[in-house]
Amino acid sequence: MTRRGIFIFAAAIVACFALRPAAADDGNLLRFTPEETRRILQHGPWPRPWSRDPSNRVSGKPAAIALGERLFFDPRLSSGNSLSCASCHLPAKSFADGRKLGVGLEEGDRNTPSVLNVRLNRWFGWDGSNDNLWAQSVRPMLDPRELAVTARHVADFMRNDRELRCRYQQAFGAPPAPADDEAVMVDTGKALAAYQETLVSGRTPFDDFRDALARGDRQAAARYPQNAQRGLRIFIGKGSCNLCHFGPNFTNGEFHETGIPVLRKLGSVDWGRYQGIKMLQASRFNLEGPYSDDASRSTATSSRHVALGPQNYEQFKIPSLRNIALTAPYMHNGHLATLRDVVKHYSEIDLGLLHSVHLYDSDGVPQTLPVDNLLKPLKLSGQEIDDVVAFLHTLTEKRAGAGIRRVTHKSNCR
Ligand code: HEC
Ligand code: HEC
Repeated sequence: MTRRGIFIFAAAIVACFALRPAAADDGNLLRFTPEETRRILQHGPWPRPWSRDPSNRVSGKPAAIALGERLFFDPRLSSGNSLSCASCHLPAKSFADGRKLGVGLEEGDRNTPSVLNVRLNRWFGWDGSNDNLWAQSVRPMLDPRELAVTARHVADFMRNDRELRCRYQQAFGAPPAPADDEAVMVDTGKALAAYQETLVSGRTPFDDFRDALARGDRQAAARYPQNAQRGLRIFIGKGSCNLCHFGPNFTNGEFHETGIPVLRKLGSVDWGRYQGIKMLQASRFNLEGPYSDDASRSTATSSRHVALGPQNYEQFKIPSLRNIALTAPYMHNGHLATLRDVVKHYSEIDLGLLHSVHLYDSDGVPQTLPVDNLLKPLKLSGQEIDDVVAFLHTLTEKRAGAGIRRVTHKSNCR
C-alpha cells in the first residue's frame, strides 16, 4: 500500500468510528424485533390507574383507609390478642412472610402471598375462593389456624373500643350495628380492603426499560442489563411465560396447573381451583350475595359465569411477578425455594404430572387429553436459566414502599 493508500485507509477507519456514536451508546441493547417489542410493551405502563371497588361502599374513602390500616396491624383482632394481618403480611417482606407455609395460631397449608397490588385481582386466594377483597379479608379472622375469632368477637371489639367505634362511625357514617354481628364483621373487612387497595408496588428497572423502548429512547433502554434483556427475550419468546404472566401485573388473573405436587401434610390433596369454585359459590360473602354494595351487580359477571369442570383440579392462581425477588419461597405451598428452582421447574417440567381431562370420542372410546399445551419442558441451558432469573430480579421495585399511595386522614378519635 502506498503512503497515500495507508492514509486513506486510516481515515476511513476513523470515519467509521466517528459515524457510530449512537450505536456505541446503545450497543448494550439487543435487537428486539417489532413483535418482541410489542410483547414487551404489553407489560406496562406501571403503576396502573387506580379505581374504586363498586362492591365496597368505603373503597377509596380516607377515613376507611385509616381505619383499615389501624386494624391491619392490630393483634386484638385475633384469639388471645397474639397476631395481626401484618404478622403474616409483613411490610418489610413485601407484605408476605418469607415462610414456606403461613403460620398463625397453627401452621396452614398454603404459602402467604403478598397483598401488594391486590386491587388488580379478579379472584383472591390461591384457589380463587373469594371474588372480592373484603370477603378475602374476613376469611383469616374466621380461619381457626389464622386469627381464629368469631363474628361476635370482631363486632364486639369494634363496638366496645372507643377509638375504633369513633373511626367506624367516620368511615361508615353510622356506629357499628348493635345487633348484627355479621354485618359489622363484613364492614371491618371492607375497611381492611380499603387500606389494602392503597398498597401498590413501586417502579422497577424493567419499567424504566419498557418505557424507554416505548419512547424510542435506545440510549436509556441500553442501561438495562444485557442478561436481563436475554431473559426477557426468553420470557416473551420460547418460554411463553407471558401467556400466563401477562400484562402490567404479570398475571392474566386466572388459574392454571403447573405440576407442583399437591399432597398436603396429612395426606389429603389440595384440589386448588376445583375446591375454590365450590367455596366461592357457597359463600354468603360473594359478589352476588347480600353484602355487595354494588346494586347493579356489575362486578359479579365473572363469578356468575364461572363453571366447575374437571380442568379445575389442581389449578392455582397465576401470581403476579412484581417484587418476586422479595417473596421466596414460591408456589401455593412454598414448594420451590429460589427463583432458580422455579425456572428449572419450567425447564424440566414432567408433563406426565399434569392433570388430564378424560373424554369419550363419538364412538364412546375413552380419550385422555392433556388439559392444554401451554407448558412444555423448555430444556434451557444453565446460562439461559441464569438469564431468566436475572430478568425476574428486575421486576422488583427500586425503592421499598415507593409505590404505596399515601392517603392522609385526621380522625380526632381518642
Ligand atoms: C397466618 C398467617 C396469615 C394471617 C394472620 C393473615 N393472612 Fe392473609 N393470607 C395468608 C395465606 C396463607 C393466604 C393464602 C390463602 C389461600 O390461598 O388459601 C393469604 C391470602 C390473603 C389475601 C389474598 C391475596 C391474593 O393475592 O389472593 C389477602 C387479601 C389477605 N390474605 C389479607 C389478609 C388480611 C386482611 C388479614 C388480617 C385480617 C390476613 N390476611 C391475615 C396468611 C395469613
Ligand atoms: C400455563 C401458565 C403458566 C406459564 C406458561 C408460566 N407460569 Fe409461572 N406460574 C403459573 C402458576 C399457575 C403459578 C402458581 C403455581 C402454584 O402455586 O402451584 C406460577 C408461579 C410462578 C412463579 C412463582 C410465583 C410465586 O409468587 O410463588 C414464578 C416465579 C413463575 N411462575 C415464573 C414463570 C416463568 C419464568 C415462566 C416461563 C418460563 C412461567 N412462570 C410460565 C402459571 C404459568
